Amino acid sequence: MKIANGKSKMVLPLHVNGETKEAVIRSADTLLYTLREGFGLTGAKRACSNGDCGACTVLIDGEPNHSCLYLTIENKDKMITTIEGLKNSLVQKAFIEKWAIQCGYCTPGFILNCQALVESKPNADDSTIQEWLESNLCRCTGYAEIEEAVKAVLQEVRSIEK
Ligand code: FES
Ligand code: FES
Repeated sequence: MKIANGKSKMVLPLHVNGETKEAVIRSADTLLYTLREGFGLTGAKRACSNGDCGACTVLIDGEPNHSCLYLTIENKDKMITTIEGLKNSLVQKAFIEKWAIQCGYCTPGFILNCQALVESKPNADDSTIQEWLESNLCRCTGYAEIEEAVKAVLQEVRSIEK
């Protein structure tokens, strides 16, 4: 870690979407702030800033986490995935095909959360899916379409693995 700009900022290497980037940060910067304002990765959205809505969800070492709750400095040596790293993924395609999007504000967070579900619980049943999705809020699409998208991906993944 290098000190930049006198004592107020530092340079921190971060692993994001398979690349290592240098972030110039203040010690109090959140991961969400650095992704959006430092790297221009605006797919992670800021809404509640309080860990309640999931709009800012990213994967940290494969686990879905609310990036508004983490300091950037805590994520040195972690593997971070944002929605920009899931372009053309099965989950993204399923959200489009099942109309699991309306305004789209919550969608990146949902897609990342669902990606983690597909990777960690490929045999998830309905109640597991519903419980998993509780960490993310959507104000305008029906949750039924989001669940349909997840189920379609799980089915596809299971059929590929057979
Ligand atoms: S903005 Fe992070 S949980 Fe709502
Ligand atoms: S699609 Fe609008 S908040 Fe979810």
